[in-house]
Amino acid sequence: MKISVKFGTIKTEDAEILVFYLYEGMKIMDKSLAYCDKALHNSISELIKKKEFIARLNKTIALPTYGKIPAKRILLVGLGKKKEATLDKIRQAAGTTVSIVRDMGISEGVVVVMSSIDISASLSEECQAYVEGARLALYKYHRYKYIPPEEQQELTTLTLFLSNGDAAKTVRNAVTCGQIIADAVSFTRDLINTPSQDKTPVILADYAVKIAKEYGMQCKVISLPELKKLGMGGLVGVSLGSVQSPKFIILDYNARAKNQDTLVFIGKGITFDSGGICLKQAKDMDQMKSDMSGAAAVMGAIMALSKMKAPQRIVGLMPCTENMPGGSAMKPGDIVKFYSGKTAEVVNTDAEGRLILADALAYAENYHPQAVIDLATLTGSCVVALGTVVTGMMGNNEELKKRVQIAGEKSWERVWELPLWEEYQEQIKSDIADIKNVGGPHGGAITAACFLSKFAEKYPWVHLDIAGTAWCEKNGAYTQKGASGVGVRLLVQLVRDWAKFPGKNSL
Ligand code: BES
Ligand code: MN
Ligand code: ZN
Repeated sequence: MKISVKFGTIKTEDAEILVFYLYEGMKIMDKSLAYCDKALHNSISELIKKKEFIARLNKTIALPTYGKIPAKRILLVGLGKKKEATLDKIRQAAGTTVSIVRDMGISEGVVVVMSSIDISASLSEECQAYVEGARLALYKYHRYKYIPPEEQQELTTLTLFLSNGDAAKTVRNAVTCGQIIADAVSFTRDLINTPSQDKTPVILADYAVKIAKEYGMQCKVISLPELKKLGMGGLVGVSLGSVQSPKFIILDYNARAKNQDTLVFIGKGITFDSGGICLKQAKDMDQMKSDMSGAAAVMGAIMALSKMKAPQRIVGLMPCTENMPGGSAMKPGDIVKFYSGKTAEVVNTDAEGRLILADALAYAENYHPQAVIDLATLTGSCVVALGTVVTGMMGNNEELKKRVQIAGEKSWERVWELPLWEEYQEQIKSDIADIKNVGGPHGGAITAACFLSKFAEKYPWVHLDIAGTAWCEKNGAYTQKGASGVGVRLLVQLVRDWAKFPGKNSL
């Protein structure tokens, strides 16, 4: 869908459909809508007065205009209560709008009157959120499914209509950013929704090489012989049970600006998690193709940031492998030695994410980063603790946690902190190795982070457990059953706001 921006007055717009937004319990405030109402003999205000249309969030009603104005139809979309308005409700309302309009069989001539969305955010934030919601709502994963032509109804163009006084340049820029972000999220969703057979570590590495070429980044892929030489025993160990060879993918976006900060993003890239020798049960095991959601989010975020020409150096580290129970698989009781030199007793082969992340976290030191953030579908325990609404956050630096928390609020990919206190470290002590990879039945999300913290001692670090947020059980206003693409918007927001905080080494 192409999104264009237009400035002027709607009086002469001969659109297929004019879209307005309304707040619950409020009269018509928008001048353009008041004009249409008058032209239609107050039929819109009557609807509202008689409560035939209540502007609850995502509620809609379409009206014909019978030639009273050049536009053929009017669509009213609810935004809910004005005092509860957020940018995410704009995303949702945008998603609802495009889905409804598409299902009405309209493919172009949709004109959205932006002045009717009036919340306390800036116009550019509103436009960006609108574009994100609209684009993401139309996301589909149909790579393997035949869709009959009559069901291939697509909305091809959408016009954001603004009043003449609005700053054209900022608005256009916001629309472009929204598109870049939505494209990156869609890319990430595609990778996650792809079956494991078609996204082996080798295939993911090929994607990364392609992206790097396209967007002018460096890409390095470390393969098995070198992984062994480097001593990445975690990644190598997890890969032993699979016939697919592991890859450690490095995407390096380097703006080469003066005094730039270096940020490292690490993504868990388990392309299928069977549990290994500690095999998972069959129920919902198919969902474990999504155990590379962290890596996919990192790839998507870096792609977006390179398109936006972020002034920082951003390095993505993506350790990728399957976790399978093959004949040469790692066994419970085995000990692995990581890139840092530390050792861990593998009590449970299903706690594999922390093993591959340990190598990546240790490797991150080579970049002398100002901050490191890892994203991982790490523990079922995090889902038990926080559900599927919010991402679990743990880390070793208050300022960085604060920044991530703020970026989470802004992007509406919110995070909630769990404590990473000393006392929990007890649980991962081992008798025969430096640590063990499971901390017992209690506080599993936290003890997993404790494990990671042993490899992230040299820099400010935040760990995001996205096990609950990476996958949607059902459709939402701008999400579909399947991959959510969580993390992309959060990371992009974090980097875009990075410079607003005090400079280098400020953490
Ligand atoms: N990938 C899983 C975590 C997961 C579970 C992600 C559900 C998404 C949805 C991870 O590798 C895992 O298996 N974790 C174990 C750890 C346990 C063995 C200590 C878990 O959470 O059960
Ligand atoms: Mn596992
Ligand atoms: Zn896993």
